[in-house]
Amino acid sequence: MREANFLIENNARHLWHPMAHAGEMRAHPPKIITSAAGVEITDLDGKTVLDAVGGLWNVNLGYSCEPVKKAIRDQLEALPYYSSFRGTTNPPMIELSWELAEFFKADGLTRAFYTSGGSDSVETALRLARQYHKLNGQPERTKFYALKKGYHGTHFGGASVNGNANFRRAYEPLLPGVFHLPAPWDYRNPFGVADGAEIARRIVALFEDEIAFQGADTIAAFIMEPVLGAGGVIVPHETFMPLMRAACDRHGILLIADEVITAYGRTGAWSGSRLWGVQPDLMCTAKAITNGYYPFGAVMIHDKLTQAFESSTSPLASIGHGYTYSGHPVGAAAALAALAETKRLDLAANAEARGAELLAGLNDLHARHELVGNARGKGLMACIELVSDREKKSAPARETVQKVQDAAYDAGVMVRTSGPNVIISPPLIVTAGDVQRILAALDAGLSAAAA
Ligand SMILES: Cc1ncc(COP(=O)(O)O)c(C=O)c1O
Repeated sequence: MREANFLIENNARHLWHPMAHAGEMRAHPPKIITSAAGVEITDLDGKTVLDAVGGLWNVNLGYSCEPVKKAIRDQLEALPYYSSFRGTTNPPMIELSWELAEFFKADGLTRAFYTSGGSDSVETALRLARQYHKLNGQPERTKFYALKKGYHGTHFGGASVNGNANFRRAYEPLLPGVFHLPAPWDYRNPFGVADGAEIARRIVALFEDEIAFQGADTIAAFIMEPVLGAGGVIVPHETFMPLMRAACDRHGILLIADEVITAYGRTGAWSGSRLWGVQPDLMCTAKAITNGYYPFGAVMIHDKLTQAFESSTSPLASIGHGYTYSGHPVGAAAALAALAETKRLDLAANAEARGAELLAGLNDLHARHELVGNARGKGLMACIELVSDREKKSAPARETVQKVQDAAYDAGVMVRTSGPNVIISPPLIVTAGDVQRILAALDAGLSAAAA
């Protein structure tokens, strides 16, 4: 690594950062994170803080997971890369597919398709959904439904089903034939209703109305996150996903669960679909699959779809989709080790227990700080939404949100902000003491912003 002055002088000078304004980043360069251990990260100034962001919802096992590091090192020695396109494969990708089929057995998912990350996984699922219907003799089923506030990555397909204007407007026109339903959100919704079960019923009724209008035989799939993450940790009522599953079933529409955040334990269940008792037709996973140490993803495919692809003699049956890094041996080796550690440490159980403590603490902050309009979460994905006026639920000034984040950092905890939301998604190995550290830092942040 070059000396500190070089890094500071060149920070954000010759690159554009994702999800940021290039000019603003030049004016206010980002923190340079130089090392990490356990659940903590250290910046260039030598300040060490607890990482309540968990990398980017992905470093579930923390930063010192030796089995994953060793698996990566060993695999780099044995076979650093080889293609998995038709004709060749590698041992870790075979072994991982067996392990994933075991892990997702309860979700009915029996096949894996490997990708290089979440956006790739979403793109893959959307494409396979259309292909499935073509193989099934329903080629007109091409449309997609999704939820407002949903986040599905940044490829054109994913951006098209995305439910946040910030990720759409600059890149329009997007894919035609994509439609959105309201988010299943009890704090803000177009119905003026606060009861989650009622909101769920209304959205399903809207979906039915849309299906009747569009024609069921034109709709390929509905995609949703079991808990909406980047949109502000929106936790649907427990009836929502099962009701949407039933509506999809009534009309031959596939259900794609985007579990790029929720798979592998974050919500307190091994998958978000399992949390709500639903089997999806396709499940997008990535992020924690390698503990964030290697870019990798897997789309899991329900047994109900396998026959159409594996037995068809149609010229359309071959999968004309894939990535150079699909089934990357180093990524697959990392995933095997991460999965083993995730199960060994029973991270879903810890996410559930620590998540309950975190939510209780956030509710307490809501009770004590006017600035907190709403506290919500499931497992170790949580959020406080800041407001300048509780009654009107009006957005706070940008500087206020920044102050909360900065003061929390000064108090020893990195949190992530997105619009009015302060998002908390720490590694799933956090202890009860770590949760109290996060809450204390947020308390300090909120007090500083109110002063
Ligand atoms: C639910 C969901 N889907 C897809 C993605 C895109 O994943 P990636 O950034 O790895 O492409 C994300 C990323 O945060 C996500 O949260």
